Amino acid sequence: MPLYNLKTVLEEARKGRYAVGNFDVFNVEMVKGILDAAEETRSPVILAYGEAFEELAPMECFAQVMIGMARKATVPVVVHLDHAVGYELILRAVHCGFTSVMIDSSDKALPVNIAATKKTVEVCRVFGVSVESELGHVSGLGDLYENDESIYTDVREAERFAKETGIDALAVAIGTVHGVYKETPRLNIERLKEIRAVVDLPLVLHGGSGLSPEDFRETIRQGICKVNIFTDLTLAAMHRIREDAGDAGLSYIKQCARIAEAVKEEAIGKMRIFGSVGKA
Ligand code: 13P
Repeated sequence: MPLYNLKTVLEEARKGRYAVGNFDVFNVEMVKGILDAAEETRSPVILAYGEAFEELAPMECFAQVMIGMARKATVPVVVHLDHAVGYELILRAVHCGFTSVMIDSSDKALPVNIAATKKTVEVCRVFGVSVESELGHVSGLGDLYENDESIYTDVREAERFAKETGIDALAVAIGTVHGVYKETPRLNIERLKEIRAVVDLPLVLHGGSGLSPEDFRETIRQGICKVNIFTDLTLAAMHRIREDAGDAGLSYIKQCARIAEAVKEEAIGKMRIFGSVGKA
């Protein structure tokens, strides 16, 4: 099946009032786990790759794995580059055949963020590659874990950003952070409602791991169409490895298959909450 980009998949999600899971992956076990979850539940899905994975799984090599396995799927799959801070990485991803990218200049001043995003949109359009960009800043991704409201998405800036950049999806900062939460997150749903009222685009929630089902449902009700998950997949995989540690008869290949199974179960749980089940 041909690959999809965000535009098609998220427009459907927006109409159907559900969210599509964006799952960050860096090995075959994770790719298999996510694609099996999508097939089993008939869910559209986003396979995502990030620069932090380059050392373990170089993009030019791993893209072949992601794209090759994704093409075999019978459900819509987007192959997406997550959190690209540099333009060169984006060009490499387009060259590799990714169908979607995220440009992340969210820690820069608004004019710089707008310029970087516009430049990305201009080139990606030519290749039919969709573009997500972040406004406000979801922290915790290699920077200091902070969660004060000053880094939340500003409503007027969001309106301007969406109009001027031509992006396909907007990632918002409303109180989530990447990684394991140090305290129970309190999401600013009012802010999300205000953004949605002025931005006519699918909205994206980063830092999905550790949120409650109710948080997911409420944010999806208020316009979130894509939820990014990474940490929870890794926790599920590591939990499975620890569970299996005492089994001296377990071969390495069986262990890897069991990790893929754990990732699949974790993803299925999320897909059920996101409402994407049966939407493929
Ligand atoms: P978590 O690791 O908190 O799930 O965040 C994932 C993410 O937002 C990747 O872009």
